[in-house]
Amino acid sequence: MVSASIPNNIPRKIPRFTGSARELVRAPHRFFLQLTADYGDIVQYRAAPEPAYLLNHPDYVKHVLVGNGRNYNKDTYLNKYLLESLTGKGLLTSENPLWRKQRRLIQPAFHRHNLATFTDLMGDATNQMLARLNEHAVQGNAFDMAEEMMRLTLDIVTRALFGYNISEQATAVGEAVNTLIEIAKPKRRKFQETLKFLDEIVFGIIERRRLEGNDDRYDLLDMLLQSRYEDTGEGMSDQQIRDEVMSLLIAGHETTANTLSWLWYLLGQHPDAVEQIETEIGGTLNGRSPTLADFPNLAYTNKVIKEGLRLYPSAWSISRRALGDDEIGGCHIPAHSIIALSPYTLHRHPDFWPDPERFDPERFTPEQENGRHRYAYIPFGGGARKCIGDQFALMESIIILPMTLQRFRLQLVPDHPVEAHALVTLRPKHGILMTATRRTD
Ligand code: HEM
Repeated sequence: MVSASIPNNIPRKIPRFTGSARELVRAPHRFFLQLTADYGDIVQYRAAPEPAYLLNHPDYVKHVLVGNGRNYNKDTYLNKYLLESLTGKGLLTSENPLWRKQRRLIQPAFHRHNLATFTDLMGDATNQMLARLNEHAVQGNAFDMAEEMMRLTLDIVTRALFGYNISEQATAVGEAVNTLIEIAKPKRRKFQETLKFLDEIVFGIIERRRLEGNDDRYDLLDMLLQSRYEDTGEGMSDQQIRDEVMSLLIAGHETTANTLSWLWYLLGQHPDAVEQIETEIGGTLNGRSPTLADFPNLAYTNKVIKEGLRLYPSAWSISRRALGDDEIGGCHIPAHSIIALSPYTLHRHPDFWPDPERFDPERFTPEQENGRHRYAYIPFGGGARKCIGDQFALMESIIILPMTLQRFRLQLVPDHPVEAHALVTLRPKHGILMTATRRTD
């Protein structure tokens, strides 16, 4: 806290963590949480080889992402080393002026009214997942729900990108994307070979689509191919389209899969919440699949999804680099510093989230939401670089949860260890083992 006796122009000294960073490597999300508990809303730590600042107050988050957002870019290890090797100069990692130009071009495809295009394919892909669950149910097998969610969200994002007509290639794309995420080491030979293989498929699809057009339903690739820059009237190069395709594949797949996996884990522990969802979908859907028009009537399901994203924000850490000096919360932040914002810790800040570890969807009633600092909840980031696929991801969840619960009762396998593993995203380390029984009613 700033003492009243300190004149305003003298920067507040930032507490510094100097202990062993072993925990930073082992379980960085827990390490961050401990740092905020021990040192407060701003703390310096060392993310080898450079000093870094963890900011854990919504005002600071707003400052970095919005107020002084132009002073911060994405020149961080994760972005430059890993993500850029996959997505090149796509939306996820590019910087101004290219980023702004691309965001403007691509944003319309993700507007809420355009998303209706994707509800059918989301429902179809979910039905395929449910057929697999049915086999497990019939045979009485336990299965890994996290693996099922990975398969499902990859299926959805590849269909949204490339349409229905490439099912064989979609499988190959899916396997390659999974291999790349698993390896996550751009220097490994297998990584490079897989990336080359994936590039050949993606460039092949782009080339064929340019030649033959698309007789299938409109998809994101059509949108990328048809869009034109305002100033020149020209379209994107094949390389830029490839980079955007890769960005959407990488950003849109695992994040959503983890979100759903954690939701199944939470629902497995809270049968009362399952019951409330069932009552809601019973009244609203009466056995049919949800459409866009139903979403306003699925308010409780929506609250559950938001609470899941609070406790297990798949993008558990958001990092930036300061371009110039800055002052945050009365503290001097030197140019070139690394800034870490952690939705995982922020969503557990006791000043904004009473009893933070408790699962409570009622935190997301409109009254509660209106009364809370807007930047206390950032599962999709914030400011200009906020997730472009947030509505897409929420729509997936609000289709998949009801469709699954209409058909099955799900139970967690007792004693299976469930542990959060904070890599690029927050994954369940040993999967989420479940059993399913078919509903007869
Ligand atoms: C629950 C699922 C998702 C979560 C938790 C999530 C989270 C995030 C977050 C936190 C960011 C901001 C990163 C930063 O500021 O450094 C982001 C950016 C992004 N996300 Fe998502 N995301 C999800 C789903 C999706 C989906 C489904 C897509 C696309 C189909 C997508 C595409 C992107 C892209 C392209 C960016 C970069 C945007 C830009 O910088 O202009 N995301 N996401």
